[in-house]
Amino acid sequence: MGGTAEPETEPDAVRAEVLAIPLPVAELHLHIEGTLQPELIFALAERNGIELPYAGLDELRERYEFTDLQSFLDLYYANMAVLQTEQDFADMTRAYLERAAVAGVRHAEIMMDPQAHLSRGIPLETCVNGVASVLATSQEDFGISTLLIAAFLRDLPEESALGVLDGLLAMNAPIAAVGLDSAEVGNPPSKFERLYDKAREAGLRLTAHAGEEGPASYIVEALDILGVERIDHGIRCMEDPDLVERLVDARIPLTVCPLSNVRLRAVDTLADHPLPAMLAAGLNVSVNSDDPAYFGGYVDDNFAQLGMVFELSDFDKARLAANSIHSSFASEERKAELLDELNGREVTHP
Ligand code: HPA
Ligand code: ZN
Repeated sequence: MGGTAEPETEPDAVRAEVLAIPLPVAELHLHIEGTLQPELIFALAERNGIELPYAGLDELRERYEFTDLQSFLDLYYANMAVLQTEQDFADMTRAYLERAAVAGVRHAEIMMDPQAHLSRGIPLETCVNGVASVLATSQEDFGISTLLIAAFLRDLPEESALGVLDGLLAMNAPIAAVGLDSAEVGNPPSKFERLYDKAREAGLRLTAHAGEEGPASYIVEALDILGVERIDHGIRCMEDPDLVERLVDARIPLTVCPLSNVRLRAVDTLADHPLPAMLAAGLNVSVNSDDPAYFGGYVDDNFAQLGMVFELSDFDKARLAANSIHSSFASEERKAELLDELNGREVTHP
């Protein structure tokens, strides 16, 4: 016998590095326009000759104090002014995927808001093709499989959404699903029954924001009237025990965004977040970043902060990661690949 025996335990340095590798997850609740970082906003403004109403980065960052969903939406829509060309949409998408890969994201279902661009005079082709051009090779380039979700602004009339969906279908846009976002209260899911019927007929998957600021009854409407497969946010389901039982029994996925809920004051602090109670109730919850450039972090940041406040067990973190993969609209083959990757991991988020 010759040679040196392998040490039985990993050196500390190697182990520390392994511990820093985040779990493989699917990000299911992500608005691509909410990934525009302040630096990119300024760079795109300069490239496009757009004058921003902020003297510099610090002045822009000072605006990232939100009192509710609407106060965020006002800034989110205003900052979109810098998105003018296909290249701008492509650069924004590439920047997200680069950062998401570091966060452990292996599959991403990306929402975009076509109406928010059309209303500024940006053609559907510009925003769709700009984002889609990067998504087309995301798996080769970033190790992240992706699909695109057309999200509709619920504070606009249903006729507007119907017209835009027609336009997307006419141009054969590579969309896999539809979603519903923007100002929730006063704009219940029932307002969009025809839109969801049309999307279903077109073979699209269905999701909708519900129960973020709006009441638990909006979640019921999204399920019963829109026939959605998944609920974005959904945290207010906890106010209705019958609804919780229904969501648990039907394994309806809830794409929860903890840092978003804190920054938009849906909860007072992260320690008040219902995520542990949702897990304990047996709900099918995942962790997502929503608008990471605005809410203080990507998926890994959400996991890290949850871990600090709640001391989630490795089992809980693995369950959250597995839920995200099972709840995705990815192919069964891709899901199996990601679950294999997850099952091969012993260590979890720092
Ligand atoms: N809620 C509703 N609409 C949105 C959000 C959100 O968190 N982010 C972008 N549009
Ligand atoms: Zn959202």
